[in-house]
Amino acid sequence: MEYSKLKNKRILITGGAGFIGGALIRKLLISSECFIWNLDKMSYASDLTGINSCLRGLETNKQKRYQFIRVDLKDKQQVNNAIAKSNPDFVIHLAAESHVDKSIQNPFTFIESNIIGTFNLLECIKEYWLNLQKNRQEFFRLLHVSTDEVFGSTLLDESFTENTPYDPKSPYSASKASSDHLVRAWHNTFNIPILITNCSNNFGPWQYPEKLIPVIISNALSQKNIPIYGDGLNVRDWLFVEDHVDALILVLQKGIIGQSYCIGGNGEKTNIEIAMNICDIIKKYLPSLKDSEKLITLVNDRPGHDRRYSINPKKIKNELGWESKFSYEKSLELTVQWYINNQDWCKKSLLKTSL
Ligand SMILES: NC(=O)c1ccc[n+]([C@@H]2O[C@H](COP(=O)([O-])OP(=O)(O)OC[C@H]3O[C@@H](n4cnc5c(N)ncnc54)[C@H](O)[C@@H]3O)[C@@H](O)[C@H]2O)c1
Repeated sequence: MEYSKLKNKRILITGGAGFIGGALIRKLLISSECFIWNLDKMSYASDLTGINSCLRGLETNKQKRYQFIRVDLKDKQQVNNAIAKSNPDFVIHLAAESHVDKSIQNPFTFIESNIIGTFNLLECIKEYWLNLQKNRQEFFRLLHVSTDEVFGSTLLDESFTENTPYDPKSPYSASKASSDHLVRAWHNTFNIPILITNCSNNFGPWQYPEKLIPVIISNALSQKNIPIYGDGLNVRDWLFVEDHVDALILVLQKGIIGQSYCIGGNGEKTNIEIAMNICDIIKKYLPSLKDSEKLITLVNDRPGHDRRYSINPKKIKNELGWESKFSYEKSLELTVQWYINNQDWCKKSLLKTSL
């Protein structure tokens, strides 16, 4: 991976206090010598514990390469100030409200953060980029991190590619689709050098415990019912967050301006399979919890629930040479182990005020 080539680059990361942004920042702190500005509004899903403990393990001069800026993207003036302060070579845009269930209960927050927030960021970047010196203008990139959910649901014998038409079904995926369209429009109309990635469901340590995998693990550990929507046969294409981070850094450096890249881990599983696999791993580490799979309970389906997500990662593999390195089995085991050892963090995180 091209981490060494980021030496002294200035990178503004939005949403760095979230799950994927946190993994990205920790990896950059350890593997590169870039300067990082972490812009985040600090929502209920945010947490800086992982980044702070990573910083504590670094030498003082490396620690100084990181700064946190508390900004809500809905405030354009604050976004402008953050861009002026960080003076970035690259912006990686991950900030978004990301939980589909919450988008059904309270869609407005998703419109505000994911659409208006992205619009504000684009407007501020436009002014900034137009005033950059020519040599810096040429190398500047905005990498917008999106989801495969913008494509809707796919049939059993098909997979999403970069050419799949958009067909979002939930308020979350519709807001992400809108943000993708805005980013493309700011490239086509104002020439902003953008890149877009559409990835499948991520998992790994530090994911806020409202998402499927941490919920299954936490409920199994506390021997509560494990709720699974509908008939449990909805399919997701699971991607380990460390693999995703490597893909983002590669796209940032080698992606072709204006293009999008689908990122998937070839890890298609039904929700029931995931739950059974997790119960098996828990049984291995905590033999007293040997019957956790009996806790799996089918509950009423989510409205607009997409049946299957599946990514064909051929473009990023053939053009940029990226492939997932972690197997589903190994990365799921690593994740379950992490949650077994960090149940206090999960409990504390869930106590934070909801949206
Ligand atoms: N987690 C996944 O499985 C997945 C899959 C595909 C795409 N994505 C995309 O990746 C990105 C990161 O996802 P995640 O799982 O880390 O999400 P997350 O919910 O864990 O973190 C998102 C972060 O963005 C911040 N944020 C939200 N609105 C903001 C605003 N208005 N101003 C400033 N900060 C704001 C939140 O405070 C939070 O810290 C999102 O854009 C998401 O759509 C995630």
